[in-house]
Amino acid sequence: MQGSVDGRIKQNSWGFKDYHKYFEETAEKIPADAWLVGQVTMQEFSSKQPYVLESGKEDFPKKDFVADQPAKTFAAVIDPAGKCFWDTNRVSTEHVIEVLTENIPIGYLEHLRSKNVSYVFGGKEELNWERVLNKLHDLFNIQILRIDGGGHVNGSFLKANLIDEFSLVLAPVADGAIGSPTVFEVEEGYGARKATQFKIKSVE
Ligand SMILES: NC(=O)c1ccc[n+]([C@@H]2O[C@H](COP(=O)([O-])OP(=O)(O)OC[C@H]3O[C@@H](n4cnc5c(N)ncnc54)[C@H](OP(=O)(O)O)[C@@H]3O)[C@@H](O)[C@H]2O)c1
Repeated sequence: MQGSVDGRIKQNSWGFKDYHKYFEETAEKIPADAWLVGQVTMQEFSSKQPYVLESGKEDFPKKDFVADQPAKTFAAVIDPAGKCFWDTNRVSTEHVIEVLTENIPIGYLEHLRSKNVSYVFGGKEELNWERVLNKLHDLFNIQILRIDGGGHVNGSFLKANLIDEFSLVLAPVADGAIGSPTVFEVEEGYGARKATQFKIKSVE
């Protein structure tokens, strides 16, 4: 992740022309079979065209779909309600995998199939993170997954205790926008949850 000194992550208002560069140069040093983001972040990479869903003419089963395609690296998106639309089944060189819940209109599955985009079901109404990771491993042979945000997806993995390693590019900027997403958006207050401690591996 790339964060401001106050932990915020919406880089487009920070005044850097090439903010993607600092994130990407660091991210590409991390060997990974896939990257994964939330649907808000993926809107930047998915279709900008308006799509109208069919009412679901064909009776598609709500079963995982692994597209027949050649890519060996993947771009996965947490998109429980199917808000990302696709003109192609790739982001750059990576094949797109949609992570859905079963609360999804059949017409959306038809859209994904028509673009040969893979999809997996991570739960009926809520996502079960271990199930999601097991499916990404078993169906796509993803061994190392790089979670690239935003804050809500990071927060979900943090809460589920499923982060092994965390890398932060610290931008020399104070953002200060109250309510703007931060590196980890878990929940209001602390409740029974404690902060997660990391051990420093290296600093540059
Ligand atoms: N600085 C950086 O390194 C960096 C990296 C990535 C993104 N960003 C920025 O971060 C911002 C977006 O972050 P964000 O936190 O608002 O959004 P996000 O994490 O990209 O996406 C959040 C969405 O993902 C789905 N989701 C996340 N956790 C879920 C859960 N536990 N169960 C079910 N669905 C879940 C929900 O979709 P539904 O609403 O459909 O339920 C939720 O609204 C953007 O401005 C982006 O540019 C910055």
